[in-house]
Amino acid sequence: MSAKREVILSGIRPTGRLHFGNYFGAIQSFIRLQDGDADCYYFIADYHALTTITERREIYRATLDMLKTYVACGLDPARSVIYRQSDLPCTAELSLLLGMVTNIGHLERGTTYKDKLSRLEADPKVEGNPLSFGLLGYPVLMAADILIVKADMVPVGDDQRQHVEMACDIAQKFNHRFGETLKIPRPVSREAVRIPGLDGSGKMGKSDNNTLDLLDDPKTVLKKIKGVETSTDPLDLDTDSDAPEMVLPKMPPGVGVLYYLLNLLAPEEVYLDFLGKYRRKEKFYGMLKNTLAEYVNQFNAPIIEKYNDPANSDESIEAFLRANAEKVTPVALDTVEACRMAMGIGHSLYRA
Ligand code: TRP
Repeated sequence: MSAKREVILSGIRPTGRLHFGNYFGAIQSFIRLQDGDADCYYFIADYHALTTITERREIYRATLDMLKTYVACGLDPARSVIYRQSDLPCTAELSLLLGMVTNIGHLERGTTYKDKLSRLEADPKVEGNPLSFGLLGYPVLMAADILIVKADMVPVGDDQRQHVEMACDIAQKFNHRFGETLKIPRPVSREAVRIPGLDGSGKMGKSDNNTLDLLDDPKTVLKKIKGVETSTDPLDLDTDSDAPEMVLPKMPPGVGVLYYLLNLLAPEEVYLDFLGKYRRKEKFYGMLKNTLAEYVNQFNAPIIEKYNDPANSDESIEAFLRANAEKVTPVALDTVEACRMAMGIGHSLYRA
């Protein structure tokens, strides 16, 4: 008898256009994981998006666009099950049940909640959305997402690690109180790749307006890259001639970003060639920018083409998402039923 396959699960917030930070921080690892021998489940977290998006039509649109972009990047619908969170409404019931074993104090330490609270304290009018029950309960809903499919492993970036740990804590507490019911996932172990923003800041992020997007056309790419600040003089180089060739010398932030991206996208000899120019303090930033823009465009071109494939109509994507939710529904209902029974409220009516 073959061993049961492991389940890998991760959620994706439908946040509009995806950028290089998303790609190298998450999408790439999702694509790699689907070549392994676990069952991969990825879902678009549209319930979670309701904590921030105020425009009703935006979430629906962003969900479909997000799915199209992921598939265009190489997430293979034949090998990964990609569904929409709200197509599995029993997640909401599990979230309610898990809420009964979750302390408010635990939730108040959640990063998403704490961030919003401190932004509101700094400026009460900062954003349209209130400090909602939904936001406080964000980690409980996330726990439900994870536990409902009996996930073994949950690959996430650093910013979500705490939430996954909270899911494990909640599951443990449930099992302790009601008997072994929920599968506890393994702790997250993934080195997060952090792509610097085009403004030279530590991290590329949508809200910082410093992103290079996967669907940017060549004109936009060139404009963004030309806009990277390189007017600062090169820093004094450590003239340590023993330093390995690949190690980046100290650079002003904008220049550092260009090299970082070039290293990611261009062949090694191109990268080393430009590194040599930097060490020799040649004047070459214009050329570096043009070269980098070309590699970015080469990277984006197949994604854009696949994204625009006319076969990807909204209707076909809808049908695809629904079919996938149906694949996950049996295991999800099984988990919810087990929790209902463990807690003593009996079977649900939606299952014969
Ligand atoms: N909160 C995650 C994010 O912002 C998305 C998410 C929702 C998720 N539910 C999840 C990730 C469950 C992993 C597992 O990126």
